[in-house]
Amino acid sequence: MRGFSPRVELLRESPTRKIDALRERLKQERKDIILLSTGQPSIPPPREIREILMGLLAEDSMELYGYTPSQGLYEVRDAISEDLKRLGGIDVPPEQIVLTAGGQGAMFSTLAAILEPGNEVVLIDPTYFGYKPLLDYFGAAVRKVRASLEGGFQPDPEALKSAVSRKTKAVILVTPDNPTGRALREDVAKAVADLARDYDFWVITDEAYKTLIYDGGHVFMYKLAPELTISINTFSKDPAIPGWRLGYVYGPPEAVRKIKLVSEEVVYCPPSFAQRLVAIYLRSDVRMRYIREVVDAYRRRRDVAVQALRQYLPEARFAVPSGSMFIFVDLSAYVESGERFAETLLEKYGVAVVPGAYFSDYYKAAVRISFVAETPERIVEGVRRIAEAVEEGA
Ligand SMILES: Cc1ncc(COP(=O)(O)O)c(C=O)c1O
Repeated sequence: MRGFSPRVELLRESPTRKIDALRERLKQERKDIILLSTGQPSIPPPREIREILMGLLAEDSMELYGYTPSQGLYEVRDAISEDLKRLGGIDVPPEQIVLTAGGQGAMFSTLAAILEPGNEVVLIDPTYFGYKPLLDYFGAAVRKVRASLEGGFQPDPEALKSAVSRKTKAVILVTPDNPTGRALREDVAKAVADLARDYDFWVITDEAYKTLIYDGGHVFMYKLAPELTISINTFSKDPAIPGWRLGYVYGPPEAVRKIKLVSEEVVYCPPSFAQRLVAIYLRSDVRMRYIREVVDAYRRRRDVAVQALRQYLPEARFAVPSGSMFIFVDLSAYVESGERFAETLLEKYGVAVVPGAYFSDYYKAAVRISFVAETPERIVEGVRRIAEAVEEGA
């Protein structure tokens, strides 16, 4: 009896991969697109690190090409352990870290390891579009808790309290958030940790952007509830190797052991060359200097984007992001459907953005604007064209 799993029918191409494919097509047609859609960094990893890697490439050895243990090379996990201590003052031994094929691999393996059909999982709305399809695929019942623009997109602890119960398997918190750039406030994080203890659920904290903070600091959930926190991480943003597919999960030993087994079945081991680069990077003197320079550069671009939005789209509503790479802009004063608007904007005005509907059931007239992929001049030009498009009724 030939056929397909009904589960696989739930999967859809992600909006950013779809835009990547469209970009490829437009590149063939030699059309120049201003990319305000992508979460891909524009500053490559530090030159010093790339030069060391070049030396390794010249060696006649299998070091860069071989399999690694499925949990990842010990030297990388040890370097991550030191990095977590340096960044957040948290003590996570290498045994409690598993390397994965990017953040996506971390998400898939974690959810596969903890979920069974019917489990309740709480998601914040808006949040990263990557979670919902996986939760659907694993048969979880998704409960959404709305975070409002007026409240700076901080989830309301009271709303969270009414969303959780003894049936809750996990609450997923992305901080700094994609698409809103909101960094979780310490008191909100504490309230979630208390709820997790009271109701005995996992807190899955997605820290993909933990080093891209422009104002304030990053709350390490693990500090508040180490026994209940599973943290999703990626090297796609810092040090900017999204195509090399490396990420990691840290958490309690039992969780990490199980996540490792899933990850092994999917990729056997994460890419060895990416592991080598990351081990060299995290242990080098340039690590902190590089990320400071990147944050300074992206902060300047964020400020340019904010300024341009205020100038060209005075009725657009947004919260200035304190981290990540994005501004979530509510265009409801100008357009009805962010999705239709984004399509016209790309086809007629040559600017790519991601519609808010991919992140939210409420903010359907919003779009997500990235401020890291383009130069300040092109960011301003992109926002100017958005204003032109709304004026012309796109
Ligand atoms: C919040 C968040 N989590 C996870 C991921 C996935 O990470 P990766 O691109 O390394 O698979 C992304 C990617 O943009 C993200 O924004």
